[in-house]
Amino acid sequence: MKEIQSLGAREASSVAGGVAFSGGWEACYRVNLWSRIASRVLWRISEFPYANENDVHAAAKAVDWTRYFPVEKTIRVNVTAQKSPLKSLEFATLRIKDAVCDRFREALGRRPDVDRTAPDVRVHAFLEERKGALYLDTSGEPLFKRGWRTGQGEAPLRENLAAGIVMLSGWKFDEPLLDPMCGGGTILIEAAAMARGRAPGARRSFGFEKLKVFDSGLWNTVKEERRESEAKSLQLFGSDIDPEALKSARRNLAEAGVERWVQLEQRDVLEREAPAPAGVLIANPPYGERMGSADELARFYPLLGNAWKKGFAGWRCFLFTADMRLPKLIRLQPSRRTPLWNGALECRIYEFRIVSGSHRG
Ligand SMILES: C[S@@+](CC[C@H](N)C(=O)[O-])C[C@H]1O[C@@H](n2cnc3c(N)ncnc32)[C@H](O)[C@@H]1O
Repeated sequence: MKEIQSLGAREASSVAGGVAFSGGWEACYRVNLWSRIASRVLWRISEFPYANENDVHAAAKAVDWTRYFPVEKTIRVNVTAQKSPLKSLEFATLRIKDAVCDRFREALGRRPDVDRTAPDVRVHAFLEERKGALYLDTSGEPLFKRGWRTGQGEAPLRENLAAGIVMLSGWKFDEPLLDPMCGGGTILIEAAAMARGRAPGARRSFGFEKLKVFDSGLWNTVKEERRESEAKSLQLFGSDIDPEALKSARRNLAEAGVERWVQLEQRDVLEREAPAPAGVLIANPPYGERMGSADELARFYPLLGNAWKKGFAGWRCFLFTADMRLPKLIRLQPSRRTPLWNGALECRIYEFRIVSGSHRG
Protein backbone atom coordinates (compact mmCIF):
# COMPACT_ATOMS: atom_id res chain seq x y z
CA MET A 1 0.00 0.00 0.00
CA LYS A 2 2.75 2.43 1.02
CA GLU A 3 4.68 1.53 -2.10
CA ILE A 4 1.88 2.30 -4.55
CA GLN A 5 0.95 5.48 -2.67
CA SER A 6 4.52 6.67 -3.16
CA LEU A 7 4.03 6.06 -6.90
CA GLY A 8 1.01 8.33 -7.22
CA ALA A 9 -1.88 5.96 -6.44
CA ARG A 10 -4.88 7.61 -4.76
CA GLU A 11 -7.51 6.19 -2.39
CA ALA A 12 -5.51 3.00 -1.87
CA SER A 13 -7.27 0.33 0.20
CA SER A 14 -6.78 -3.36 0.92
CA VAL A 15 -9.14 -5.69 -0.92
CA ALA A 16 -9.30 -9.48 -1.37
CA GLY A 17 -6.07 -10.51 -3.07
CA GLY A 18 -4.52 -7.06 -3.38
CA VAL A 19 -4.80 -3.32 -3.12
CA ALA A 20 -7.37 -1.15 -4.93
CA PHE A 21 -6.43 2.36 -5.98
CA SER A 22 -7.50 5.10 -8.30
CA GLY A 23 -5.42 7.38 -10.45
CA GLY A 24 -4.78 8.31 -14.05
CA TRP A 25 -2.63 6.56 -16.62
CA GLU A 26 0.46 8.22 -15.27
CA ALA A 27 -0.01 6.45 -11.92
CA CYS A 28 -0.81 3.19 -13.72
CA TYR A 29 2.36 3.37 -15.85
CA ARG A 30 4.44 4.33 -12.83
CA VAL A 31 3.14 1.51 -10.62
CA ASN A 32 3.79 -1.01 -13.40
CA LEU A 33 7.30 0.28 -13.96
CA TRP A 34 8.33 0.82 -10.34
CA SER A 35 6.40 -1.52 -8.06
CA ARG A 36 8.80 -4.08 -6.67
CA ILE A 37 6.12 -6.09 -4.89
CA ALA A 38 2.94 -6.03 -7.02
CA SER A 39 2.16 -8.98 -9.30
CA ARG A 40 -0.07 -7.14 -11.73
CA VAL A 41 -2.07 -3.94 -12.12
CA LEU A 42 -5.64 -4.50 -13.29
CA TRP A 43 -7.90 -1.80 -14.74
CA ARG A 44 -11.51 -2.26 -13.61
CA ILE A 45 -13.86 -2.01 -16.59
CA SER A 46 -17.17 -3.07 -15.07
CA GLU A 47 -18.88 -4.37 -11.95
CA PHE A 48 -22.08 -6.38 -12.01
CA PRO A 49 -24.45 -8.48 -9.90
CA TYR A 50 -24.87 -12.08 -11.06
CA ALA A 51 -26.42 -15.39 -10.15
CA ASN A 52 -25.44 -17.64 -13.07
CA GLU A 53 -23.25 -17.96 -16.18
CA ASN A 54 -25.79 -16.16 -18.36
CA ASP A 55 -25.59 -13.08 -16.14
CA VAL A 56 -21.80 -13.14 -16.43
CA HIS A 57 -22.05 -13.46 -20.21
CA ALA A 58 -24.53 -10.56 -20.39
CA ALA A 59 -22.27 -8.37 -18.22
CA ALA A 60 -19.28 -9.09 -20.46
CA LYS A 61 -21.39 -8.48 -23.58
CA ALA A 62 -22.48 -5.10 -22.22
CA VAL A 63 -18.91 -3.82 -22.41
CA ASP A 64 -17.86 -2.26 -25.72
CA TRP A 65 -14.52 -4.07 -25.99
CA THR A 66 -13.82 -2.52 -29.39
CA ARG A 67 -13.15 0.77 -27.56
CA TYR A 68 -10.34 -0.82 -25.58
CA PHE A 69 -8.22 -2.78 -28.05
CA PRO A 70 -7.96 -3.47 -31.80
CA VAL A 71 -9.39 -6.71 -33.19
CA GLU A 72 -5.91 -7.81 -34.39
CA LYS A 73 -4.76 -8.26 -30.79
CA THR A 74 -4.92 -11.78 -29.35
CA ILE A 75 -6.76 -12.31 -26.09
CA ARG A 76 -6.95 -14.57 -23.09
CA VAL A 77 -9.59 -14.61 -20.37
CA ASN A 78 -8.80 -15.59 -16.78
CA VAL A 79 -11.42 -16.11 -14.11
CA THR A 80 -10.77 -16.26 -10.38
CA ALA A 81 -13.47 -16.71 -7.81
CA GLN A 82 -14.16 -16.53 -4.11
CA LYS A 83 -17.35 -18.19 -2.84
CA SER A 84 -18.82 -18.09 -6.35
CA PRO A 85 -21.93 -20.29 -6.78
CA LEU A 86 -20.91 -21.18 -10.36
CA LYS A 87 -20.14 -24.84 -10.89
CA SER A 88 -17.52 -24.44 -13.58
CA LEU A 89 -15.11 -21.52 -13.82
CA GLU A 90 -13.93 -22.95 -17.13
CA PHE A 91 -17.43 -22.54 -18.52
CA ALA A 92 -17.62 -18.98 -17.15
CA THR A 93 -14.28 -18.25 -18.84
CA LEU A 94 -15.63 -19.54 -22.14
CA ARG A 95 -18.81 -17.46 -21.82
CA ILE A 96 -16.80 -14.28 -21.19
CA LYS A 97 -14.51 -15.03 -24.14
CA ASP A 98 -17.62 -15.58 -26.33
CA ALA A 99 -19.11 -12.28 -25.16
CA VAL A 100 -15.91 -10.35 -26.01
CA CYS A 101 -15.71 -12.01 -29.45
CA ASP A 102 -19.43 -11.47 -30.14
CA ARG A 103 -19.05 -7.75 -29.43
CA PHE A 104 -16.24 -7.51 -32.00
CA ARG A 105 -18.05 -9.63 -34.59
CA GLU A 106 -21.21 -7.55 -34.32
CA ALA A 107 -19.28 -4.29 -34.70
CA LEU A 108 -16.59 -5.28 -37.22
CA GLY A 109 -17.55 -8.67 -38.68
CA ARG A 110 -14.34 -10.13 -37.22
CA ARG A 111 -13.25 -11.40 -33.84
CA PRO A 112 -9.93 -11.45 -31.99
CA ASP A 113 -8.01 -14.74 -31.79
CA VAL A 114 -7.31 -16.46 -28.51
CA ASP A 115 -3.70 -17.03 -27.47
CA ARG A 116 -3.38 -18.85 -24.17
CA THR A 117 0.39 -18.55 -23.79
CA ALA A 118 1.38 -15.07 -24.93
CA PRO A 119 -1.79 -13.01 -25.41
CA ASP A 120 -1.60 -9.31 -26.26
CA VAL A 121 -4.60 -8.53 -24.06
CA ARG A 122 -5.65 -10.29 -20.88
CA VAL A 123 -9.17 -9.98 -19.57
CA HIS A 124 -9.62 -10.95 -15.92
CA ALA A 125 -12.89 -11.64 -14.18
CA PHE A 126 -13.16 -11.84 -10.43
CA LEU A 127 -16.33 -13.49 -9.16
CA GLU A 128 -17.54 -13.18 -5.58
CA GLU A 129 -20.69 -14.69 -4.11
CA ARG A 130 -23.16 -12.36 -5.84
CA LYS A 131 -21.12 -9.79 -7.71
CA GLY A 132 -18.36 -9.86 -10.23
CA ALA A 133 -15.95 -7.47 -11.92
CA LEU A 134 -14.18 -7.38 -15.26
CA TYR A 135 -10.66 -6.05 -15.64
CA LEU A 136 -8.13 -5.39 -18.36
CA ASP A 137 -4.62 -6.34 -17.34
CA THR A 138 -2.32 -3.32 -17.74
CA SER A 139 0.77 -5.39 -16.83
CA GLY A 140 0.61 -8.27 -19.29
CA GLU A 141 3.19 -10.77 -18.09
CA PRO A 142 3.20 -10.70 -14.26
CA LEU A 143 5.38 -7.97 -12.81
CA PHE A 144 7.75 -10.36 -11.04
CA LYS A 145 9.08 -11.18 -14.49
CA ARG A 146 11.74 -8.50 -14.65
CA GLY A 147 13.57 -9.84 -17.69
CA TRP A 148 16.89 -10.86 -16.10
CA ARG A 149 16.34 -14.48 -15.03
CA THR A 150 18.48 -16.84 -17.09
CA GLY A 151 17.35 -20.27 -15.90
CA GLN A 152 15.12 -21.95 -13.39
CA GLY A 153 17.65 -22.76 -10.63
CA GLU A 154 16.56 -24.65 -7.54
CA ALA A 155 13.27 -23.26 -6.20
CA PRO A 156 14.01 -19.61 -6.92
CA LEU A 157 11.94 -17.05 -5.06
CA ARG A 158 9.64 -14.89 -7.11
CA GLU A 159 11.28 -11.53 -7.60
CA ASN A 160 8.45 -9.57 -5.98
CA LEU A 161 8.45 -11.85 -2.95
CA ALA A 162 12.24 -11.46 -2.59
CA ALA A 163 11.87 -7.67 -2.83
CA GLY A 164 9.10 -7.76 -0.20
CA ILE A 165 11.29 -9.81 2.15
CA VAL A 166 14.16 -7.33 1.78
CA MET A 167 11.76 -4.44 2.51
CA LEU A 168 10.30 -6.22 5.54
CA SER A 169 13.78 -6.83 6.94
CA GLY A 170 14.25 -3.06 7.23
CA TRP A 171 17.66 -3.31 5.53
CA LYS A 172 19.22 0.11 4.94
CA PHE A 173 21.29 0.58 1.81
CA ASP A 174 24.46 1.39 3.78
CA GLU A 175 24.26 -1.82 5.86
CA PRO A 176 26.05 -5.04 4.85
CA LEU A 177 23.59 -7.62 3.49
CA LEU A 178 24.38 -11.33 3.25
CA ASP A 179 22.43 -14.19 1.70
CA PRO A 180 24.40 -17.32 2.66
CA MET A 181 22.07 -19.71 0.74
CA CYS A 182 21.68 -17.46 -2.25
CA GLY A 183 20.71 -19.96 -4.97
CA GLY A 184 20.10 -17.96 -8.16
CA GLY A 185 20.67 -14.71 -6.26
CA THR A 186 17.13 -13.30 -6.34
CA ILE A 187 17.31 -11.59 -2.93
CA LEU A 188 20.68 -9.98 -3.70
CA ILE A 189 19.57 -8.80 -7.14
CA GLU A 190 16.39 -7.23 -5.78
CA ALA A 191 18.36 -5.54 -2.98
CA ALA A 192 20.95 -4.19 -5.42
CA ALA A 193 18.27 -2.94 -7.83
CA MET A 194 16.48 -1.22 -4.96
CA ALA A 195 19.58 0.46 -3.63
CA ARG A 196 20.74 1.55 -7.08
CA GLY A 197 17.33 3.00 -7.92
CA ARG A 198 16.78 0.69 -10.90
CA ALA A 199 13.20 0.45 -12.13
CA PRO A 200 12.23 -3.24 -11.85
CA GLY A 201 10.27 -2.99 -15.11
CA ALA A 202 12.89 -1.08 -17.12
CA ARG A 203 13.69 -4.10 -19.31
CA ARG A 204 10.26 -5.43 -20.16
CA SER A 205 7.09 -4.49 -21.97
CA PHE A 206 3.61 -4.07 -20.49
CA GLY A 207 0.01 -4.92 -21.33
CA PHE A 208 -1.03 -1.24 -21.43
CA GLU A 209 1.15 -0.78 -24.54
CA LYS A 210 -1.36 -2.93 -26.47
CA LEU A 211 -4.46 -0.96 -25.49
CA LYS A 212 -6.07 1.75 -27.63
CA VAL A 213 -5.67 4.34 -24.88
CA PHE A 214 -1.88 3.87 -24.79
CA ASP A 215 -0.15 7.25 -24.66
CA SER A 216 3.46 6.72 -25.74
CA GLY A 217 4.43 10.33 -24.96
CA LEU A 218 3.25 10.01 -21.37
CA TRP A 219 4.92 6.60 -21.08
CA ASN A 220 8.25 8.05 -22.23
CA THR A 221 7.95 10.83 -19.66
CA VAL A 222 7.25 8.33 -16.87
CA LYS A 223 10.19 6.16 -18.00
CA GLU A 224 12.53 9.13 -17.79
CA GLU A 225 11.63 9.95 -14.17
CA ARG A 226 14.23 9.11 -11.57
CA ARG A 227 12.55 8.12 -8.36
CA GLU A 228 15.10 6.90 -5.88
CA SER A 229 18.44 8.06 -4.67
CA GLU A 230 21.29 5.83 -5.79
CA ALA A 231 23.42 4.34 -3.05
CA LYS A 232 27.07 5.18 -3.79
CA SER A 233 28.58 2.05 -2.32
CA LEU A 234 27.01 -1.25 -1.40
CA GLN A 235 28.10 -4.19 0.72
CA LEU A 236 26.22 -7.17 -0.70
CA PHE A 237 27.48 -10.70 -0.11
CA GLY A 238 26.19 -14.03 -1.34
CA SER A 239 27.26 -17.62 -0.93
CA ASP A 240 25.91 -21.10 -1.58
CA ILE A 241 27.25 -24.59 -1.10
CA ASP A 242 26.34 -25.59 -4.67
CA PRO A 243 28.66 -24.42 -7.48
CA GLU A 244 25.82 -24.75 -10.02
CA ALA A 245 23.66 -22.37 -7.98
CA LEU A 246 26.53 -19.87 -7.92
CA LYS A 247 26.92 -20.13 -11.68
CA SER A 248 23.27 -19.28 -12.12
CA ALA A 249 23.55 -16.44 -9.57
CA ARG A 250 26.50 -15.01 -11.54
CA ARG A 251 24.55 -15.19 -14.79
CA ASN A 252 21.48 -13.56 -13.24
CA LEU A 253 23.50 -10.80 -11.57
CA ALA A 254 25.17 -10.03 -14.89
CA GLU A 255 21.86 -10.02 -16.78
CA ALA A 256 20.38 -7.69 -14.16
CA GLY A 257 23.46 -5.48 -14.50
CA VAL A 258 24.33 -5.54 -10.80
CA GLU A 259 27.25 -8.01 -10.69
CA ARG A 260 29.76 -5.36 -9.64
CA TRP A 261 27.81 -4.70 -6.44
CA VAL A 262 27.71 -8.28 -5.11
CA GLN A 263 30.54 -10.51 -3.84
CA LEU A 264 29.84 -14.21 -4.32
CA GLU A 265 31.67 -17.24 -2.97
CA GLN A 266 31.13 -20.95 -2.55
CA ARG A 267 30.63 -21.70 1.15
CA ASP A 268 28.67 -23.92 3.48
CA VAL A 269 26.36 -21.69 5.54
CA LEU A 270 27.49 -23.56 8.65
CA GLU A 271 31.09 -22.49 8.06
CA ARG A 272 30.57 -19.04 6.71
CA GLU A 273 31.94 -16.21 8.80
CA ALA A 274 30.32 -12.79 9.00
CA PRO A 275 31.68 -10.40 6.35
CA ALA A 276 31.29 -7.38 8.68
CA PRO A 277 30.83 -6.73 12.42
CA ALA A 278 27.08 -6.08 11.96
CA GLY A 279 24.54 -6.32 9.20
CA VAL A 280 21.46 -8.05 7.85
CA LEU A 281 21.41 -11.72 6.85
CA ILE A 282 18.52 -13.04 4.79
CA ALA A 283 18.29 -16.71 3.87
CA ASN A 284 15.74 -18.88 2.16
CA PRO A 285 16.82 -22.40 3.09
CA PRO A 286 15.41 -25.37 1.20
CA TYR A 287 12.39 -26.83 2.93
CA GLY A 288 10.08 -29.78 2.74
CA GLU A 289 11.09 -32.68 0.57
CA ARG A 290 14.12 -30.93 -0.88
CA MET A 291 15.96 -30.71 2.40
CA GLY A 292 15.83 -34.47 2.81
CA SER A 293 14.56 -36.25 5.85
CA ALA A 294 13.19 -34.76 9.03
CA ASP A 295 16.35 -36.13 10.69
CA GLU A 296 18.57 -34.05 8.42
CA LEU A 297 16.57 -30.96 9.27
CA ALA A 298 16.74 -31.73 12.95
CA ARG A 299 20.53 -31.95 12.62
CA PHE A 300 20.94 -28.89 10.38
CA TYR A 301 18.99 -26.19 12.24
CA PRO A 302 20.64 -26.51 15.68
CA LEU A 303 24.02 -26.30 13.90
CA LEU A 304 22.87 -23.19 12.06
CA GLY A 305 21.72 -21.63 15.35
CA ASN A 306 25.12 -22.41 16.92
CA ALA A 307 27.03 -21.01 13.94
CA TRP A 308 25.12 -17.74 14.16
CA LYS A 309 25.50 -17.47 17.93
CA LYS A 310 29.24 -17.93 17.50
CA GLY A 311 29.88 -15.80 14.44
CA PHE A 312 27.02 -13.37 13.88
CA ALA A 313 26.63 -11.37 17.07
CA GLY A 314 25.47 -7.89 16.01
CA TRP A 315 23.54 -9.22 12.99
CA ARG A 316 19.82 -9.33 12.30
CA CYS A 317 19.22 -12.71 10.71
CA PHE A 318 16.04 -13.43 8.74
CA LEU A 319 14.90 -16.85 7.60
CA PHE A 320 12.13 -17.22 5.05
CA THR A 321 10.58 -20.66 5.15
CA ALA A 322 7.38 -22.69 5.10
CA ASP A 323 8.79 -24.93 7.83
CA MET A 324 6.95 -23.95 11.00
CA ARG A 325 9.16 -26.14 13.21
CA LEU A 326 12.18 -24.03 12.46
CA PRO A 327 12.25 -21.73 15.52
CA LYS A 328 12.11 -24.73 17.80
CA LEU A 329 14.86 -26.57 15.96
CA ILE A 330 17.21 -23.61 15.62
CA ARG A 331 17.07 -22.95 19.38
CA LEU A 332 17.05 -19.18 18.98
CA GLN A 333 14.22 -16.96 20.08
CA PRO A 334 12.68 -15.12 17.10
CA SER A 335 12.14 -11.44 17.79
CA ARG A 336 9.53 -11.22 15.04
CA ARG A 337 7.59 -13.56 12.79
CA THR A 338 5.76 -12.26 9.75
CA PRO A 339 3.36 -14.49 7.82
CA LEU A 340 3.64 -14.30 4.02
CA TRP A 341 2.23 -16.33 1.15
CA ASN A 342 4.45 -17.92 -1.45
CA GLY A 343 1.74 -18.69 -4.01
CA ALA A 344 -0.62 -20.97 -2.10
CA LEU A 345 2.01 -21.95 0.46
CA GLU A 346 1.88 -20.26 3.85
CA CYS A 347 5.35 -19.15 4.91
CA ARG A 348 6.96 -17.10 7.66
CA ILE A 349 9.84 -14.72 7.94
CA TYR A 350 11.56 -15.23 11.28
CA GLU A 351 13.83 -12.52 12.59
CA PHE A 352 16.60 -13.44 15.01
CA ARG A 353 18.62 -10.65 16.59
CA ILE A 354 21.92 -12.22 17.46
CA VAL A 355 23.75 -10.89 20.50
CA SER A 356 26.78 -12.55 22.05
CA GLY A 357 25.68 -15.63 23.93
CA SER A 358 22.10 -15.38 22.56
CA HIS A 359 20.24 -18.60 23.00
CA ARG A 360 17.06 -19.92 24.42
CA GLY A 361 17.38 -21.61 27.74
C1 LIG B 1 15.47 -22.54 -1.77
S1 LIG B 1 17.07 -22.37 -2.45
C2 LIG B 1 17.34 -20.62 -2.42
C3 LIG B 1 16.74 -19.95 -3.61
C4 LIG B 1 17.12 -18.49 -3.71
N1 LIG B 1 16.50 -17.71 -2.64
C5 LIG B 1 16.70 -17.97 -5.07
O1 LIG B 1 15.78 -17.16 -5.15
O2 LIG B 1 17.26 -18.41 -6.06
C6 LIG B 1 18.11 -22.92 -1.17
C7 LIG B 1 19.59 -22.86 -1.49
O3 LIG B 1 20.32 -23.27 -0.32
C8 LIG B 1 21.50 -23.91 -0.74
N2 LIG B 1 22.04 -24.70 0.39
C9 LIG B 1 21.57 -25.86 0.90
N3 LIG B 1 22.35 -26.25 1.94
C10 LIG B 1 23.31 -25.31 2.09
C11 LIG B 1 24.42 -25.15 2.97
N4 LIG B 1 24.67 -26.05 3.94
N5 LIG B 1 25.18 -24.05 2.82
C12 LIG B 1 24.94 -23.13 1.85
N6 LIG B 1 23.93 -23.26 0.98
C13 LIG B 1 23.13 -24.32 1.08
C14 LIG B 1 21.06 -24.73 -1.94
O4 LIG B 1 22.18 -25.03 -2.76
C15 LIG B 1 20.05 -23.78 -2.61
O5 LIG B 1 20.66 -23.03 -3.62
